[in-house]
Amino acid sequence: MPATVIVGAQWGDEGKGKIVDLLAQHSDVVCRYQGGPNAGHTIVVGEETYKIRALPSGIVRGKPCVIGNGCVVDPEVLIGELDEFERRGYSTAEVYVSGNAHLIMPWHVAIDGASERRLGKLAIGTTRRGIGPCYADKAMRLGIRVQDILDPKILRQKIEVALAEKNLWLERVYESEPFDLETVAAQYESYAQRLRPYVADTSLLVEDALRNGKVVLFEGAQATLLDLDHGTYPFVTSSNPVAANAATGVGIGPNRIDRVIGVAKAYVTRVGEGPFPTEIPQPQQGIVRELGHEYGTVTGRERRCGWLDLVALRYAVRVNGIDQLALTKLDVLSAFAELPVCTRYRLRDGSETADFPAHQSDFHAARPVYETLPGWEEPLSSCATMDDLPAAARRYVEFVERARDVEVILIGTGADREHVLTRYGLEAITRAA
Ligand code: IMP
Repeated sequence: MPATVIVGAQWGDEGKGKIVDLLAQHSDVVCRYQGGPNAGHTIVVGEETYKIRALPSGIVRGKPCVIGNGCVVDPEVLIGELDEFERRGYSTAEVYVSGNAHLIMPWHVAIDGASERRLGKLAIGTTRRGIGPCYADKAMRLGIRVQDILDPKILRQKIEVALAEKNLWLERVYESEPFDLETVAAQYESYAQRLRPYVADTSLLVEDALRNGKVVLFEGAQATLLDLDHGTYPFVTSSNPVAANAATGVGIGPNRIDRVIGVAKAYVTRVGEGPFPTEIPQPQQGIVRELGHEYGTVTGRERRCGWLDLVALRYAVRVNGIDQLALTKLDVLSAFAELPVCTRYRLRDGSETADFPAHQSDFHAARPVYETLPGWEEPLSSCATMDDLPAAARRYVEFVERARDVEVILIGTGADREHVLTRYGLEAITRAA
């Protein structure tokens, strides 16, 4: 006790990495339960910036880190991060990777790119890191798992079996170059040497930690509206970021999870294609993008920016069981005299709803209905507690809380670790369940 899931409540990039980093200092273990190097968590510590794609954000606090079975692992990216952290003086001795996590293979990356090219105007806008094809092979039972690197013979055999099919697809369907068995086998055998010490029974490790009263964080990647089941399909990622999957993605029972903290930006962003009701018209959208540095960590793409969408947030509270919220980047809104907040959608038949539409066509056609709140138009950098917030900023936060009866316990007011306001203090928040 306690086991806390940190989950993105929008379309990703809410600043989960920073929240996990803050709570990690009073935690004992930090786990990732899904996704792969499509994630990009940025943590700023003084002059140092850490951009993490594979490792849980807890690594920056020197905490034991788990990459759960629900993740997909690109060995080159993971090894790059392990090397980088070691170079910067961190120990990686307590990084544990589930043997049941799946490996991203070079054909997954090639097929991700080729399939997006083929889709043309209908493309999903993936990060092209091979995520979708890797999870597809997992479901097809053609995947290669981390534990396969423990046995060179099995590894080679599995690469051979997979390549026999993948090369056909690449050559005949996508008109792309095939992969050479010897080259791939040699490459993955060399990764195997480096990764072998990190492979562990992470389900047992996390269960033991919880039984021994340790504080465990489960760090979601991507977010609710990118969830394969509950997001804006097909413009979603290929795993389940929602909180319930923390149990499956690490290998513990759902009753082991004590609490879910949702992370939402004070506005909304989305990268890639797909409907986005509160997208801000230009030139205002550009102002938010510049002030919030809204460019993808992994791809460098411009993020689309929108006003806060409380319909989507209420939905995220529902499908994750969010108990408390962290509201990030509130400082970015200091630039605006008025702040539209979407409280309802107007549907095609003219009716209004505060519930996220269950049918894709209703969502595609939904128009935002805004309530406009006054802005505060002053920087938040000197606020030390929530009580120091300008009255209009406090009202904005209370408006969010009332939308679904969820308490805001953390507020982000800048990129740095110090720029965060808490309701009860970080240690109390982390240890409360
Ligand atoms: P994939 O996860 O690379 O397959 O991409 C599928 C969709 O999820 C695309 O719209 C991506 O832009 C989006 N996506 C994936 N990872 C992230 C993330 O970490 N932040 C925001 N969007 C993401």
